[in-house]
Amino acid sequence: MHPRRLPQLLCATLLLALLLWGLLLVAEDARGAWAVSSRFPLARGRWRFGGAAPVPSGVDFASLLASPGAAPRCEPGQVLLVLVTSAPGNREQRRTIRRTWGAQGELVPLQWQAVFLVGQAADAGTADRVRREQQDFGDILVGSYQDTYRNLTLKVMHGLKWAAERCRPRYILKTDDDCFVNTDRLPGFLAQLGPVPAGLYAGSVFSREKRQVIREPSSKWYVSRQDYGPDEYPPYASGIGYVLSLEAAARVLAAAERVRPIPVEDAYVGILAEAAGIRAQASARFAKHNVHWRVCNYRYLMVIHHLSPPQQEAARRSMLQARDACRDSVEVTRWR
Ligand SMILES: *[C@@H]1O[C@H](CO)[C@@H](O)[C@H](O)[C@H]1NC(C)=O
Repeated sequence: MHPRRLPQLLCATLLLALLLWGLLLVAEDARGAWAVSSRFPLARGRWRFGGAAPVPSGVDFASLLASPGAAPRCEPGQVLLVLVTSAPGNREQRRTIRRTWGAQGELVPLQWQAVFLVGQAADAGTADRVRREQQDFGDILVGSYQDTYRNLTLKVMHGLKWAAERCRPRYILKTDDDCFVNTDRLPGFLAQLGPVPAGLYAGSVFSREKRQVIREPSSKWYVSRQDYGPDEYPPYASGIGYVLSLEAAARVLAAAERVRPIPVEDAYVGILAEAAGIRAQASARFAKHNVHWRVCNYRYLMVIHHLSPPQQEAARRSMLQARDACRDSVEVTRWR
């Protein structure tokens, strides 16, 4: 090629690239709200959360609620409903929970209930076993979504929607099936808070350094700029366990209808809470690690993460021992 042709060639390439970029922008805008995005052409991912997009960009609750099979029964007037995310194959974890912290004592002064959230298994055999397990125990809310890690947000949105509309407990706790929940204390602790505080959303809130959005595509927590524009999530509680009052859950769910979901479930709830004007309440009662807690700690802790089935048994024993142990220590009646 003649050296004098180089500038012309570069010019032509640049023009072509610009043209392609323009076409891409137009194609993207055509899918969403043209009016809003044309005002902020470069603030991608942000504008979708606001105004009235012709295509709803939030969670599709209609298809989530069209779920197969019978939903669990829930008693009216409960203080607490615990939603436990669980994979279809995690039968052992569910069995352990049913006989440890999920077991109701003979004397239950405050009504509470635990429900497992399970989606569609990849194979028919597992799906069938889940169906039979739900028939036997009546404590599984089976969703229509495929049960994958990247669908965890759908799972939790389905559970929250069902809980807030069909059960209407005073409080909802979302947790995982490798967590311990202090069911001997949590209902009573919530009841003694008195009138339900407005916009209650409490849990182990991540510090600022831990709220960076992960842009590495191979990561389990990858989120693209198209799905969420900012580089940092608002303050949010770890998915190991967070408590929402019924009214806070309703506000979070209303926001979910207009805010585009991201696969990071706990961060998404934080984004929704912020959109609904709800502040995350940090509490040391939610422990991310299981570090040989002593019996007295069970007078304070409400959720502990990362327990094997034998550790669940041990935690239940400690929880029951804590009723009588350490009575001379002052009872903490607040979140912190
Ligand atoms: C989530 O579930 C839906 C509905 O079953 C499915 O179409 C989609 O592929 C799933 N997404 C992921 C990331 O697994």
